Amino acid sequence: MCGIIGYTGSANAIPKMMKGLSVLEYRGYDSVGVAAQRKNGTEIVKCKGRIGALEEKLRDEPIEDSRCAIGHTRWATHGGPSDENAHPHRAGKVVLVHNGIIENYKELRSELLGKGAVFLSETDTEVAAALINDCYAAEREPVAAIRKAAARMRGAFAFAILFDGREGEVYVIRRGSPLILARGRDGFYLASDMTALLPFTREYCALKEDEIACLLPDGVSICPADGTRFPPEWKTTTMTPESAQKGGFAHFMLKEIHEQPAAVVKSVSPRVNSKGLPDFSADGINADFWRSVRHIQVVACGSAMHAGLLGQRLIEDYAKVPTTVHIASEYRYHPPVMSEGTLVVVISQSGETADSLAALRYAKEQGIPTLAIVNAVETTIAREADRRVYTYAGPEIAVATTKGYCTQASVLWMIALAMAHAAGRLTDEKAREAVNCLLRDVPAAMEQMLSREDRYRKAARGLINHEHVFYIGRGIDYALSMEAALKLKEISYIHCEAYAAGELKHGTISLVEAGTPVLAISTERDLFDKTESNIREVRSRGAQVTLICRSDIAVPSETADELISLPVSSNAATVFSALLAVQCIAYEAASLLGCDIDRPRNLAKSVTVE
Ligand code: G6P
Repeated sequence: MCGIIGYTGSANAIPKMMKGLSVLEYRGYDSVGVAAQRKNGTEIVKCKGRIGALEEKLRDEPIEDSRCAIGHTRWATHGGPSDENAHPHRAGKVVLVHNGIIENYKELRSELLGKGAVFLSETDTEVAAALINDCYAAEREPVAAIRKAAARMRGAFAFAILFDGREGEVYVIRRGSPLILARGRDGFYLASDMTALLPFTREYCALKEDEIACLLPDGVSICPADGTRFPPEWKTTTMTPESAQKGGFAHFMLKEIHEQPAAVVKSVSPRVNSKGLPDFSADGINADFWRSVRHIQVVACGSAMHAGLLGQRLIEDYAKVPTTVHIASEYRYHPPVMSEGTLVVVISQSGETADSLAALRYAKEQGIPTLAIVNAVETTIAREADRRVYTYAGPEIAVATTKGYCTQASVLWMIALAMAHAAGRLTDEKAREAVNCLLRDVPAAMEQMLSREDRYRKAARGLINHEHVFYIGRGIDYALSMEAALKLKEISYIHCEAYAAGELKHGTISLVEAGTPVLAISTERDLFDKTESNIREVRSRGAQVTLICRSDIAVPSETADELISLPVSSNAATVFSALLAVQCIAYEAASLLGCDIDRPRNLAKSVTVE
């Protein structure tokens, strides 16, 4: 949700801004801009639209001799997408870019208007710039000015700030929104996430909450309130520049779908001990901890919440521990009852989703133990949770998650096994066998499913001329259906609803008419007969049915118009195969419709506003 980047050093800054911004575009792409220091002051070039629009502008007004610059790509919150609302914003001696939301910007704005400030945009960011400028006039020193202004601001922010007359200096502060600093061979960088910095360096340091740092061409200082200065502790990321590139695939989404078999292994294997049993000791979690859990509340947004729904079924089936799933943005306004033995599990690919973070903080305030399942390492949610389990999916660039969700599901599967094993509900032998299914059968089955593009394209052709589509399933397949429907909506813009197969007849079946596409998922053998009855109900009303079904069920030919068979080497293999199939159907539908698959309209990958 907005991406920011900055550089100071000995090299030309603008090409670095453009490269970094092109990676950060997944965070928002309503407008884009850069500010660059030059001999005669700081120059801003910005416009509505994507990076191509800025490139065109820079061709007309090139900035060639800047060694210090900041840049921004925007997902509009306060004020629509326009040239005026694009960042960077200037106020007096201050030029800045911002990721986040200043909640009390209205009151600050009227106060600053009273002091003679003039605003050109509708953004909260311009108010922040004016406030920092006002504080700078009083303090005459950037760090003190930023600290004073930050004390007045409520909400979330990561700022990169240039001050007139301070050549080569970039100041940053963060609260709630992410910010990474990095050290390269030719200077120092900042960005909203590490992937944007991978083209330049792998040495990084994640700025902590409310920390201010000053970047100079020859070093970085962290500036705490006591007036001291100290250098960051640099670490080296295991991510490579290639991991953030398409690697020959038409889209990041397709690449990430193909990475899933390997990603499942990466997420499961660190949680398997030398006896082949589920074991989270490497994450600092032992069997006693699992045994102490009486009730789980999963809190997440979007696909991560859908992964929670899948996890709920697994944890309740295997470990018999009652589990409820909550939409993060609702959680703290209507918190469920917490009691002794409650564990709050926050799931987030990005580790920065504002609603999930707010829910995590709420749970912590209540004194409830928290565990985060996160992909992006050292992010705010990962840092603030009492315990963290990384999914190790690697960078996910496409806005619509695939391998992020898939690895959340595999980690939840392992948690269900670990809890059941710790509670004595699963023998060593059964636990070992289940772990093996995840490590061996799931990747093999997913690989097999990857080669069925023709089936997915055919199924997708049946959807693209319709305005409404339904997914139906029971049990785990209902949870999968919700993710399947979201995937289709997000990237192809076809309206799709997921229904528990038995629920459709209680009202919504009235929307089914001749030709309505219905996709049914059936991975649970015992539930097939019931699901089949529901399929018959919609077929007899004219629905065109695609059945995604385990291959060991003899499906009568009149049951479905199209059949996609799933490998059945194990239950897990069947479930993950169905997941891959629905992701590919969404991908093919979006591709047939010519949609911008990696950057669907109005969305952003990392939503850092509530
Ligand atoms: C956004 C994305 C969704 C994602 C959700 C949660 O809305 O568009 O695809 O599932 O955020 O993101 P997280 O990073 O917390 O998993």
